Amino acid sequence: MPPAPTSSRRERRVSRRVRLARRRALAIVLVLVVAGVSAYLLTRPGVAEADGAGDPPSAPSSPVATPEPEQPSATPSPTPTAEPAVCDDPALIDALDNGSDADVIAAIGGGDAFREAVASGAAPCIDLTDATRTWVVVNKRNALDPIDYWPTPQAQPSGIRVVSGGGWLRADAAAALDELAAAIVADGVGTLGVDSAFRPYAFQVDLYNGYVASRGQAAADLRSARPGHSEHQTGLAVDVVACDNGCGSHDGFKGTAHAQWLVDNAWRFGFVVRYEDGQTDVTGYSWEPWHLRYLGPELAAAYHDGGYRTLEGFFGLPAAPDYDS
Ligand code: DAL
Ligand code: ZN
Repeated sequence: MPPAPTSSRRERRVSRRVRLARRRALAIVLVLVVAGVSAYLLTRPGVAEADGAGDPPSAPSSPVATPEPEQPSATPSPTPTAEPAVCDDPALIDALDNGSDADVIAAIGGGDAFREAVASGAAPCIDLTDATRTWVVVNKRNALDPIDYWPTPQAQPSGIRVVSGGGWLRADAAAALDELAAAIVADGVGTLGVDSAFRPYAFQVDLYNGYVASRGQAAADLRSARPGHSEHQTGLAVDVVACDNGCGSHDGFKGTAHAQWLVDNAWRFGFVVRYEDGQTDVTGYSWEPWHLRYLGPELAAAYHDGGYRTLEGFFGLPAAPDYDS
């Protein structure tokens, strides 16, 4: 028979049970504490962002305007009314068929409107290569068509001295030159003379060849148009010189009061100085303050008022510094 437990044994057993009970209680408390602390750490604000393991940063809390979605319109927007094409205007069609150059310009709405319509491409019925019109553009890229074009009717100016050649011009240009010549005298600036006006194709052949022979082709091309490319052949261009105490030369005209008066006033009579200083890259020619081109009063006023320096710029054309071939 096993020996009965003594009191000290009983005390040791009791004591062992008490220790086990305390350990279990402690373990339970520890589990509860750990669980509580973990729950607190996981739910504390800012913990997820600080760890970089949470959701991506949310949008700022300040209000940001977001575009309103477009609502379908209850009524369709009005269709813009199409402007009638410039060249469909019956008044312009009639002026082109039966009227003068001034009638055509008036039908489009005047010099500014004409320039704008042509330069923008809105008026394809205006032909800038038509040698019979005051708006013709003749340059190194635009030859006359036909190449031996001969303008009519022609007239000689009566109120200005003609130094060489007959001084013939297209009749409207000749009448305008008479008025210009009287005005420069009336303004007390001096007297002009004509030193080359209409030049037929054959004349330009000889003139150009003479420049090539004396200066070489490169220099000739800066001073003289090749045959079929000269404004003089249209009857709309005239070279003037100063004629106060005898008449000066073309080159002697540079820097004169007459030349400056033309820059300031020629437009009032329908002319422009065609080859200005510093425009060789566009016109292909050196400065010629003596070479006046008749555009008619409406276009010359638009040219002056718009501050244009070349006819190519006025009509929005490409520069023409060289011949195509
Ligand atoms: N001198 C000008 C460019 C002409 O020959 O027409
Ligand atoms: Zn000239």
